[in-house]
Amino acid sequence: MLPASLSSLHSTNVRTSPYLSPLSSSSSLPSPSPSLSLAPSFSHLHHRRLVSFNTVRGNNPLATKAERRGLSVTCASTCEPLKVMISGAPASGKGTQCELIVQKFGLVHISTGDLLRAEVSTGSEIGNKAKEFMNAGQLVPDEIVTAMVTARLSHEDAKTKGWLLDGYPRSFAQAQSLENLKIRPDVYVVLDVPDEILIDRCVGRRLDPETGKIYHLTNFPPETEEIKARLVPRPDDTEEKVKSRLEIYKQNAKAILSTYANITKKIDGNRPKEMVFADIESLLSQAKREKMKKTTAVKPVHEHKSQSNQASSSQDNWKGIPTRLNNIPHSREIRNYFYDDVLQATQRAVNDGRTRLKVEINIPELNPEMDVYRIGTLMELVRVIALSFADDGKRVKVCVQGSMGEGALAGMPLQLAGTRRILEFMDWGDYGAKGTFVEIGSIGANEVDEQDDMFILVAPQNAVGNCIIDDMKAMTDAAGTRPVILINPRLKDLPGSSGIMQTMGRDKRLEYAASFENCYFFRLLYYAGTQYPIMGALRMTYPYGYELYKRVDVPSGGEKYVILSTFTEKPSSDDINDAFLGKPRNREKKASGFWGFLSSVF
Ligand code: AP5
Repeated sequence: MLPASLSSLHSTNVRTSPYLSPLSSSSSLPSPSPSLSLAPSFSHLHHRRLVSFNTVRGNNPLATKAERRGLSVTCASTCEPLKVMISGAPASGKGTQCELIVQKFGLVHISTGDLLRAEVSTGSEIGNKAKEFMNAGQLVPDEIVTAMVTARLSHEDAKTKGWLLDGYPRSFAQAQSLENLKIRPDVYVVLDVPDEILIDRCVGRRLDPETGKIYHLTNFPPETEEIKARLVPRPDDTEEKVKSRLEIYKQNAKAILSTYANITKKIDGNRPKEMVFADIESLLSQAKREKMKKTTAVKPVHEHKSQSNQASSSQDNWKGIPTRLNNIPHSREIRNYFYDDVLQATQRAVNDGRTRLKVEINIPELNPEMDVYRIGTLMELVRVIALSFADDGKRVKVCVQGSMGEGALAGMPLQLAGTRRILEFMDWGDYGAKGTFVEIGSIGANEVDEQDDMFILVAPQNAVGNCIIDDMKAMTDAAGTRPVILINPRLKDLPGSSGIMQTMGRDKRLEYAASFENCYFFRLLYYAGTQYPIMGALRMTYPYGYELYKRVDVPSGGEKYVILSTFTEKPSSDDINDAFLGKPRNREKKASGFWGFLSSVF
């Protein structure tokens, strides 16, 4: 069933709900089966090995001064938490050490072995497929494991608390998948244990199905007879299977090590587990201290200068996509949510040394294709980003393109009319940021001054017959290694009869436009040719991949966004179609679909 006409969105101040759920039983679209999705929901999983989270560090002598002062909450928004990978042969003690690491550092433990075993226990299609490989001591196909890991890593707890990845990557291809997503650990711990010990550890290993605790018949016998009676071996722990797993581990280990050579720490795992942990603990504490040192910019919330930053700091934890996005004008909460989401992603990218960035955000108020477009929202977003970097002591130049063309054809895109004046007269806070740390300028090489630290280009766009790219290119050349951030650029080719567009070859223009990487992307998804109802959303925040969400009505009358799939690259409209229809990836592509409109977007 096709949704209602556009007119419902075209009137402002209209709450467009209640509306028909496009994927309700009356819809001709089948609802995707969760069991077929390659990015399964993990809500049903519990971490077998995970004992407790310990995030309160107030009395901990190892805590840094900032932590003891209770500033770790602010840090969560400004510095990246610890990211650790632990690797080693089967039974080298990864799970055992992970229990201790989680207790001490409060990281989110993500064990592919546990995720897979939990999936197997649900009897899902993925679980059954994985079971064949696991029971044979083989690696489960990458497409299954990678989708699981990237989906789990994109959860907010992993982003804010930090993560401990156990059992992934297990092949060069898996390591490359993470590299492509720019997911890198701070430390890569490798547990080193001789082969003969490993085999004995596997054969003697027993699991408590009630607590998830790992025992060994001789090394770590169960505490009571009652526990002993319920212990079970793992099906892949026979001597023959362990040997096969060990062989596969050795074949892959070298190639993976090459990816993490500079952060690899080898630890002798053939010692009592407490001694092994003592080494890991000091390693991670050191890594944590170094991270904290890098963020001397850690400030308590009340010290933030700008109004906009207060808004951003109040949303340290990403709580999922906000609902009621069809409510126009957007509420302050919704606007602040998006400003904050963009800001955090942009900060992460700049802190990682990325210099050619773009933000693309198309909520209704920021989508010039919609008549609810609001220039004020774009200006507020720019101000939040500029003030945030200014707050960190950077000199930011906010640039708007000037009038283009000549004579009667002179002018600027309608979307930008008056923008510069609005920026000049905006409230830039009580601390005199404008004129000191924030300057307003135009797009062009001669605007690049020596003292500028970074540049924000407001919606640079080509107009028919007039190409902004030459000016941008000159400006970025002059900026050199300083960050240039494009906010909602529109750089598609618009050739005009004047020939001005041809000053730089088409290929070169497109290549230049593509040289900016997304640090943020958000787009609402609709049925082909409509702007109502919202079917879902696609979101990407640096350094994570693209997350595809489906909007669903909830029985209580509200709505929510549920994650359908994740992608390392921006998905095509076919990828999105397939995910909504619950089809596996890499199928023969269709020519069209409900979401065919997206082909014009991507
Ligand atoms: P997974 O569960 O990850 O298995 P593994 O890597 O083979 O590791 P183990 O769980 O066997 O051992 P561990 O190092 O955690 O040791 P533990 O602490 O338990 O993966 C299982 C399967 O899933 C794989 O075979 C594969 O099929 C699939 N899979 C997983 N990830 C995948 C991926 N990324 N891609 C594709 N497929 C994937 O300790 C072992 C024993 O030793 C215990 O009994 C313990 O009590 C004892 N012990 C521990 N430390 C000590 C010590 N210091 N001294 C004495 N004994 C100790």
